[in-house]
Amino acid sequence: MPLMTWSNELSVGLPDIDREHHWLLDATNLLHDELSKPQPSPAVVGDTLHGLMDYTVNHFVGEESLFQQVQYPHADAHRALHDRFTAQVMGLINDHEAGKDIGTNTLELLKNWLIQHIMVADKAYVPFILAAESAANRARAGRRPGLKRPRAWADKRGKQRARHQG
Ligand SMILES: [Fe+2]
Repeated sequence: MPLMTWSNELSVGLPDIDREHHWLLDATNLLHDELSKPQPSPAVVGDTLHGLMDYTVNHFVGEESLFQQVQYPHADAHRALHDRFTAQVMGLINDHEAGKDIGTNTLELLKNWLIQHIMVADKAYVPFILAAESAANRARAGRRPGLKRPRAWADKRGKQRARHQG
C-alpha cells in the first residue's frame, strides 16, 4: 500500500506545481515501498534518495523564482521551510551512506512534512501567483485594444456575415 495517495485536496491549482508535487509523492512512495521490503536494496534506496534530492532542489528553485517574480511577501519564511526539508533529505542520504538503517519511520516525517507544506505553505502563495498572472494578462490585453471589439462593431460584422451566408 502506498504511503501517500494523490488527491484533489493536495492540488494547489497550478498545473506545473501540482505535477511536481505529484512526482515528489511518487518518489517518497517508491522509497517507502523499497524500505518496507524485508531486504531493501541499498542501491535502489540510494538512487531514490538522490533522485528525490535533485528533484526537490529543482522544484524549490522553481518556486522561489516565482516568489521573486511576484514579490511574494512571505518568501523568506517559505525558503526557510524548503531549507529544512532539503536538510532532512540530506540527513537521510548521509545516514544511508553511513550504512545506517533509515527505516520507514523517517518516511512518516517526510510524508507529514510534504502534506503539511503543500496544504498550508504552498497554498498560501498561490493567490499571489494568480493575481500577478491576471495583472500580466490585463496588461497584455491593454496593449492590444483590437482584441476588445466594441459591441456595435461586433454586431455589424455578425449581420454582414449572416447576410453573406444567407
Ligand atoms: Fe514550497
